[in-house]
Amino acid sequence: MLAAGVHGEDMNIQGQGALITGASRGLGRALAEALALRGARVAMVAREGGPLHDAVATIRARGGVAHAIVGDIGAKDAIHRIAGQAQGLLGEISIAIHNASTLGPTPLRLLLDTECEDLATVLETNLVGPFRLTRILAGAMALRGAGVIVHISSDAAIEPYPRWGAYGASKAAQDHLSRILAAELADTGVRILAVDPGEMDTAMHAPGESHFELLQAFARRGVLEHALELATTSGLSSHELGDACLILRS
Ligand SMILES: NC(=O)c1ccc[n+]([C@@H]2O[C@H](COP(=O)([O-])OP(=O)(O)OC[C@H]3O[C@@H](n4cnc5c(N)ncnc54)[C@H](OP(=O)(O)O)[C@@H]3O)[C@@H](O)[C@H]2O)c1
Repeated sequence: MLAAGVHGEDMNIQGQGALITGASRGLGRALAEALALRGARVAMVAREGGPLHDAVATIRARGGVAHAIVGDIGAKDAIHRIAGQAQGLLGEISIAIHNASTLGPTPLRLLLDTECEDLATVLETNLVGPFRLTRILAGAMALRGAGVIVHISSDAAIEPYPRWGAYGASKAAQDHLSRILAAELADTGVRILAVDPGEMDTAMHAPGESHFELLQAFARRGVLEHALELATTSGLSSHELGDACLILRS
């Protein structure tokens, strides 16, 4: 995916400046390491300094060029500082990977139980923050006629997983934003992609266990039995069943 470059030619990663958000662990860290070991100079963003500096040190110990930028991609005031620091450290940024993201509060909640403020926070981190960064970086890329912006997506952008509503909606919006940017920048040499990495055993995935915990809680309270009974005997559609389970929960 990262080899795809300007106007379909292979992009030479060697010496390119790459900004990767959420790079202190998981997929972001793996991408930063992979790019740095192929000769890119990477700027790695995360909120917590300790693990981020460890990740940078690991790359440097292997001869790569890496820098840490501590910052919250969901904080409006932080975006210009993050972009400015990255440009100061790397010069031209040819690759930007919007990888950092949040599920919102865990255990994950049904959408109707989700606070509007929590939905807004998820959208700020997963959609608006990355868009703010893109607005800063894409202009310079277009002027140079080269650049790659990658949005890390999820199957939750397509599948309506119960309790993954805020995250799923943010990823679906990001996918479409990515498609529209790709159409609008089609003639500039800037490539915009959205990539679903598939299920990975990372820290982010752990809160998914709450599905199971929720089922266990339902079972303890006899709710699951009612839901199963409804599912097997009532002939309700899955939407109606979802509504029925909501009522049973309350
Ligand atoms: N894991 C999966 O199974 C899976 C499946 C499909 C898609 N994805 C997608 O893949 C990407 C990476 O997921 P992952 O599983 O590797 O996540 P992860 O292991 O939880 O790592 C998340 C990274 O993002 C950083 N981060 C989180 N919020 C941030 C913020 N507001 N500002 C800056 N950095 C932030 C974290 O560091 P700090 O906490 O220190 O900020 C950390 O470095 C995400 O976009 C996710 O939606 C994951």
